[in-house]
This record gives sequence, C-alpha cells and structure tokens, in this order.
Amino acid sequence: MNVNIMNVDYSTKIPNNVNLSADRQVLKALEGWHPGYMNWWSDMGPEGFQQSLVYLRTAYSVDPRGWAKFDYVRMPDYRWGILLAPQEENRVIPFGEHYGEPAWQEVPGEYRAMLRRLIVIQGDTEPASVEQQRHLGKTAPSLYDLRNLFQVNVEEGRHLWAMVYLLQKYFGRDGREEADELLRRRSGDADSPRMLGAFNEATPDWLSFFMFTYFTDRDGKMQLHSLAQSGFDPLSRTCRFMLTEEAHHMFVGETGITRVVQRTCEAMKAAGITDPTDVAKVRALGVIDLPTIQKKLNLHYSLSLDLFGSEVSTNAANAFNAGIKGRYHETQIKDDHRLRNDTYPVLKLVDGKITRVDEPALTALNMRLRDDYTQDCVKGLLRWNKVISTAGYAYKLTLPHVAFHRAIGEFKDIHATPDGVLIDSATWNKRRHEWVPSTEDGDFIASLMKPVTGIGEFAPWISPPKVGINNKPGDFEYVKIET
Ligand SMILES: [Fe+2]
Ligand SMILES: [Fe+2]
Repeated sequence: MNVNIMNVDYSTKIPNNVNLSADRQVLKALEGWHPGYMNWWSDMGPEGFQQSLVYLRTAYSVDPRGWAKFDYVRMPDYRWGILLAPQEENRVIPFGEHYGEPAWQEVPGEYRAMLRRLIVIQGDTEPASVEQQRHLGKTAPSLYDLRNLFQVNVEEGRHLWAMVYLLQKYFGRDGREEADELLRRRSGDADSPRMLGAFNEATPDWLSFFMFTYFTDRDGKMQLHSLAQSGFDPLSRTCRFMLTEEAHHMFVGETGITRVVQRTCEAMKAAGITDPTDVAKVRALGVIDLPTIQKKLNLHYSLSLDLFGSEVSTNAANAFNAGIKGRYHETQIKDDHRLRNDTYPVLKLVDGKITRVDEPALTALNMRLRDDYTQDCVKGLLRWNKVISTAGYAYKLTLPHVAFHRAIGEFKDIHATPDGVLIDSATWNKRRHEWVPSTEDGDFIASLMKPVTGIGEFAPWISPPKVGINNKPGDFEYVKIET
C-alpha cells in the first residue's frame, strides 16, 4: 500500500491511488456521479475545442520528484482522478484542542457538519472557476496561453473530483447529495449561484484571467494550506496533492501579468512615450496601459480579500479548536498551537477611523491567514515593478489598502481610496472608476482580445513567455485545433 500509493491505478474508470477497486461502494457512487460530471463539463466547461488535441499534463504519481506526464489529450478524455498525498506515518493533529492526538482516519462525529461544510465550500470554488473561464478559449492570445487555460480548467475539474471523493466516501447520503449540488449550482446564476462572491464574478478577458489565477487561485492556495494541516487526515492528504497542481495556476497568473506589463513597457519605449499615465497615447499602441492594469489588480485583489471572510470570526476559532482547519505553515510556527491566551492585531473601524485592535488570536485567524496571503501576493508585484523600472519608468503597481472596495468584514459599509483614506458615498461614486475598471476600460481591453492561433505567434498586447511548457520550443503546437 505504501509503495503503491505513489503510483496511480489507471485500470479503473476513475484513476486513483486510494485503492478504489477494493472499495466497491465508493467506486459505485463515483461511477454514478461521473455521467453528471461529464454533462456539466460539456455544458459549462470550455466552449469549443472539445475535439482539439491539447498538450496537457496528467498526474500519474504523487511523488513530488516526478508526478506528471505530458501528452496530447482531448479534454473530455482527460483522466480526472482521485489522488491523495502519501499517508504520513504516525501523523498527529498539529493544533487545537486535540493537539498531539493521532490524526483521524474517519470523520469525528462531533465535527461532521463543520467538516462537510468546509469541504463543500472548497469544492464549490473548483467548478465555479471553470464556468467563469469558459468563454476565454475564443480569444486566447496564443496556443501557449490556450493550453495553459485548459490545463487550469481540467485541474480545477480534478479538484472537484477530489472533494467529491471525500464527500462520497466519508459522509454517506448527505455527502452524495452535496456532490450532486456541486454540479447543480452555476457561477453567476441568479437562482442558484456559487457559494462565494468572487466565484460569481465574470472573467471577461485574459487580463482578468491572469489576475484571477494570480489573486483568486492564491486564496485557494491559502485555504488548501490551512486544510492541509487538518486533523482529518484524508482531507489533509487531498489538499497537499492539490497544492502541487495549484502552483501552476498561480504561475500562469504571475507570468501572464509579467508578460502584459513587459509588452506595454516595450511598446511605450519604442514609441518614445515618457509618461505611462498618458492612457490615450498608450492605448493607441494597442497595448494595455499600466493604470488600467492597476485598476484590474485593485478589483481582483479586493474581491479575493473578501474570500477570507470576516476578520473576527468564531467559526474560524471553532474550526481551529476542533483541529479541522489550521494556520498557514502551522507546523513551522513556534508557539503552543492552541492560542489560548494569544492576541493578534486586526484592522477595525473604531469611531469612524481605521484602527489596529488586538483581538484574541483564535477569533482573528481569518485575519492572520489574509495577512499571510497579502505577503504572498507582494512577490508578484516586486517582479512586475522590476519590469517597469528596468524599462526606465517610474510607475509602480501597488496593492490597495484592505479597506478598499470590500463587501465582507469590517469595511463593507464604508468607502475608502486605494490608499486607505475614508471617503463618503458621493466621492466614491464620482471617483470609483479612477480605481476599478469602468465599462470603457473593459471595452478597450475587449477590443484587444482577438484570437491568435498561429504556431509560435502571440497577440500584440502580450510578450511571449521566456520558456515553454515542459521545455518545449517557441514554435511548439500546444493545441492542435484542427482535429
Ligand atoms: Fe483548484
Ligand atoms: Fe487553481
């Protein structure tokens, strides 16, 4: 078992490393769910290209040294499988009231509802992003980018399978019902929307896609990290393997934005433009001006902050106490992992002023995870700003203040500028499009979204990548569209 778990059994209809062929009941439940999933994929998955051959990676092992194989695959033939990271021997619960006790291999009865809810919320985000991105194939700036989009999409599909496996194996009938519901909700649907706000927003263009994979998939990373600490071992192992795939999604976002910024700077330089805020002049070159990139960034970052929930939350405290959801890098933190007497600083609105308040660390766990997220986000900004300064421009992309453009938590009822200055509604309404994209900004970006499908060719608003996928050369045919 311990040896085999590294490699994936592809002999069953559903590839897996959890010995499904010996687990008849769960195999039957998953096989029963499979047709609904395929229907969902054909209705809500990428529009078009279903018969194209796409150069995709498929997980064939969970060995971190080599877990993926690259080959041409038609997306509906992708082998969506159930893959868990290897079980750690004698793993103990690393935090909360059960600190030091053996990790659970079955769901503890008292935490069943809480666990199911967390798994459903995570599961709901996976198909949601596929739905949000389904139209983008039509306007891909290159075959390379088209392939990356589809790679992200099939893997989000696999992440849905990962959560459905947990529901069907460990939660009996209500788990199966939740699994069906995950296929029923639709991103942006008025009657039956996805569970979280950012997953009901449109992803209208490729800059949004890159921002989404950079900022929103990174929220996913933080959530998966905290669930990977879970005392419920199957959840921990599932999330650990998902994180290896997730890294590529954020890579797509980070390098995508880098390439857009790069191209804009090159075009401005070539045209002798010295002021990067001269939007009209820059747009006339057919590239996306830096102020518009900043607005998109403001939008996606603030939507993603909302995904962390309220800064002060008893749910978060309960999940931690229960040993269900830990902190980012919990096992590396040097403290008692119980947080009984600790405090954590939280930005709150006190008498109309943004103020730091020390809160019990237990109830401030969402805030802490969000702070970790913000630190993680900064890395990309350093890279993008390096591109801008190397090109000789003084412009700097920045993360907006956490009070800016929020729909959840302490600042949901106020307005603030990206610098964190509180303003009234009238000022917000008058000035909001200095900070978040306007319809005209969206229309301009949309006007650039013309598909480029020639081998090795790229749309004029984005630079080619430095290296190809799996070290393929620049003229590699990542998607064979005519098949
Ligand atoms: Fe995912
Ligand atoms: Fe992702």
